[in-house]
Amino acid sequence: MSGAPDTKVPSDREAAARAADAFTARFGSAPEGVWAAPGRVNVIGEHTDYNGGHVLPVALPHTTRAAAARRDDGRLVLVSAQHPDGDADVAVADLAPGTPGGWAGYPAGVVDQLREHVPGGLSLLVDGDVPAGAGLSSSAALECAVALALRDLFDLDLGPGDLVDVARRAENDFVGAPTGILDQSASVLCTAGHALHLDTRDRSSEQVPLDLEAAGLALLVVDSGTTHDHAASGYGERRRECEEAARRLGVGLLCEVAGVDALAPLDDGTGRGALLLRRARHVVSEDARVEEVVGLLRAGGDPREVGPVLTAGHASLRDDFEVSVPELDTVVEVALAAGAHGARMVGGGFGGSAVALVDAAAVDDVTAAVTERAGAPRSYVVVPAAGARRLS
Ligand code: GLA
Repeated sequence: MSGAPDTKVPSDREAAARAADAFTARFGSAPEGVWAAPGRVNVIGEHTDYNGGHVLPVALPHTTRAAAARRDDGRLVLVSAQHPDGDADVAVADLAPGTPGGWAGYPAGVVDQLREHVPGGLSLLVDGDVPAGAGLSSSAALECAVALALRDLFDLDLGPGDLVDVARRAENDFVGAPTGILDQSASVLCTAGHALHLDTRDRSSEQVPLDLEAAGLALLVVDSGTTHDHAASGYGERRRECEEAARRLGVGLLCEVAGVDALAPLDDGTGRGALLLRRARHVVSEDARVEEVVGLLRAGGDPREVGPVLTAGHASLRDDFEVSVPELDTVVEVALAAGAHGARMVGGGFGGSAVALVDAAAVDDVTAAVTERAGAPRSYVVVPAAGARRLS
């Protein structure tokens, strides 16, 4: 990972020791364990997850760590190294959406999902380095680290899919962000050196080897410096538009549609029909792009061929789905002009980061270009890392 010194990612051992020490300093005794879960960057497959389509994320080397210990007074005490003034102390029995709010709502939402198993309460210290507000799923990393901690501490019979659901429901029901399962699936299921090819409809998945270094390539994540807020943004509106388009087409989920040609009935001559057609066209074409990228990677050819598919995905998110912002469009244009093979915005949109596929030898040039000409404050070379795990 390149970039400013503050973007350096600690080893699992360092990360565990730091979280355990901070826990001990705060609570007066050692934690029972430390768990970690990563953020993600999606290679392709944006806004397909709540439409029953495919996604292709990789886990970041950046993680959120949860140091935790059981209590017996029924309280949930939450402390974050990143929010020194944001402690929360609430009775498990009193947990309710919005109580606590802010960063603490994410771990509290996970405890709330499993509250019958946590009657005695929990002490939790959170530490991490997933950039927040950059569209890299810092919230899912936090939820998944806590879900894993609860599973182990309370000996819960939760498989990987259950952990994904617990974390996602915390975000949907407690925090109130109507997201799909991309972020939590990536954080739990990704493995080092692979992209996760996930069918969000039947939940089947496959690990696709992604060794860009061997091909002389790098995946560059560029933070545009604009922050997003799913709950307050157009994310929910896009979701409702997709549901309306599916209803009008008589399918349960948009990705059940055979292809873009089958979307023609949406165009009923009204402005609304034209808008729904554009939204649906993004979803259905994006799902096809995931399969195209997976096909190219599986075929073992030159991964540079993936580049134009990523760029086509950006155009679709910008023009049909309308979730990009000028800052992200500029990052993509500047990266392409500086030699990237492909680039696109990632995540829900309305700010956040972009990803670019670049020759390893061109990383410095592209980084300098997006910094100087697109005002991007941070960029990182990402090598696909491991999913959620216990550190100590
Ligand atoms: C956010 C959501 C995900 C997914 C992406 C867009 O990251 O949390 O569920 O919908 O946006 O692909």
